[in-house]
Amino acid sequence: MEANRAISNEENICAEKEVDLKGILRILEKQEGRGGLIAILEEIQAEYGYLPEKALRIVSDRTRRSLVDVYGVATFYRSFSLKPRGKNLVCACVGTACHVRGAPRIVEELEQQLGIKAGETTADKEFTLETVNCLGACALGPVVVIDGHYFSKVRKSRISQLLDEARRGFDKAQPGKDKRIFPIDVSCPHCNHSLMDETFAIDGYPSIKINVSFDHADGWLRLSCLYGSYNFSTEPDIGVDTVVRFHCPHCRVELPSTSDCSMCSAPMVPMLVRGGGIVQICSRRGCRNHMLDLL
Ligand code: FES
Repeated sequence: MEANRAISNEENICAEKEVDLKGILRILEKQEGRGGLIAILEEIQAEYGYLPEKALRIVSDRTRRSLVDVYGVATFYRSFSLKPRGKNLVCACVGTACHVRGAPRIVEELEQQLGIKAGETTADKEFTLETVNCLGACALGPVVVIDGHYFSKVRKSRISQLLDEARRGFDKAQPGKDKRIFPIDVSCPHCNHSLMDETFAIDGYPSIKINVSFDHADGWLRLSCLYGSYNFSTEPDIGVDTVVRFHCPHCRVELPSTSDCSMCSAPMVPMLVRGGGIVQICSRRGCRNHMLDLL
């Protein structure tokens, strides 16, 4: 099992990609004026696969933010990691709903097949296994997310196939056939008019069209209707961290928020799901929190 042995922190540190000052400065220069620490950290993580301490110190120094602030943001969002991760990230939900639907057995199977414990990375750096407390799709549990692809009602017998697919690299989603995607059809909670826009596809599906207002500007936002996809298009551009107000393009009423985001405290915006249920998404650009409750 040598190949599957978990790597220790020491090995991780030795294997870290050297933090290149010029590379970090290039990222800071690119993001200058856009004002978003989240966007800077996202780029650094995309470059190194995690947020190296040295990079965070450079960001703190150059942006004149305290290191505590930078670490505060880096540790607040679960999409950021302070430790190197493997090429493929496997994230199993162990929240209450998934737990009662068999999540512990799924985690056990993942640990056995990968030869690591949750929170570890395989020695070949192919996989990191993590657990989370809720992915917002409780009715579809147990839920496992691999490299951003959501898988619902996962059974032990499916794990080996999913890991093989991750090793090969997931193909593009196949509308109508692919079990890893949850296309949802939503409508306005006020007038019940469909918010789906057949004329503007994202991820190969009709997008969800919403009018938005923020910072004295008005515009539109089109979201992917695939639950778990963060692809979107907007006009005008919305700066990272901006909290946006959502309005129905049909009745023009602002979509009323009834709760705040558990990750960033911005209002969560609800939409009705056809077939019964509510999806809620965080109104802050850059926050990826969303919840799906199916009836
Ligand atoms: S408890 Fe697993 S998605 Fe909510």
